[in-house]
Amino acid sequence: MELLGNKIKLKAITNSDKDHFYTIATKSYGAKFWYDDIKREKRSKTAFFNDWTEGYFDTKKSKEGQCFWMMVQEKKIGVIAYNKIDEHNNVEIDIIIGDEEDMNKGYGADAIKVLCEFLLKKLKVNKVWIEARMNNPRAIKAYQKAGFKREKILEKKDFFQGEFVDCIRLEMP
Ligand SMILES: CC(C)(COP(=O)(O)OP(=O)(O)OC[C@H]1O[C@@H](n2cnc3c(N)ncnc32)[C@H](O)[C@@H]1OP(=O)(O)O)[C@@H](O)C(=O)NCCC(=O)NCCS
Repeated sequence: MELLGNKIKLKAITNSDKDHFYTIATKSYGAKFWYDDIKREKRSKTAFFNDWTEGYFDTKKSKEGQCFWMMVQEKKIGVIAYNKIDEHNNVEIDIIIGDEEDMNKGYGADAIKVLCEFLLKKLKVNKVWIEARMNNPRAIKAYQKAGFKREKILEKKDFFQGEFVDCIRLEMP
């Protein structure tokens, strides 16, 4: 399955290619903003895929979540994913670009917009949401550029790099 944006193409990640996702998610420059150092360094690949379960790599189970490559020409610059659609028909998304050189070029906002269009129009979800750390202004800006609106601040919601940090919940529509 493929979804086309203005700058990027999203391509469903299959089971056979998911190790590459693990490398981007844990070893890249972007990974430092995604997972806490301790979580990244101490967690085994098996534990990682306990979270990123089979449904994320199986296009036949669209309600169970899905991971997509973000493709710029033929380069897999990162991954965008939606989680299992919940009982209220709402869904959380997440995104990571691997290399610093691919950031701040509008690819993130474009990918978020394309994925949300698919979720809202094709899968008919009610709401798409994300919780970002307040100390990640680039991510917050990318979500806002894609049309997300601030819902609320969640004080000390996440433990990151040794301290509790505030998060912001953003939603669309
Ligand atoms: C977050 C991420 C997906 C955004 O994608 P991206 O392609 O870099 O973002 P975009 O280029 O679409 O938008 C970023 C915007 O933030 C701005 N920005 C960058 N650094 C910033 C900062 N420190 N403060 C404020 N704004 C900043 C950019 O200038 C750009 O805005 P502009 O287009 O108006 O100039 C990507 O940077 C990434 O993968 N980061 C690491 C992982 C991560 O943080 N994931 C999100 C977890 S919630």
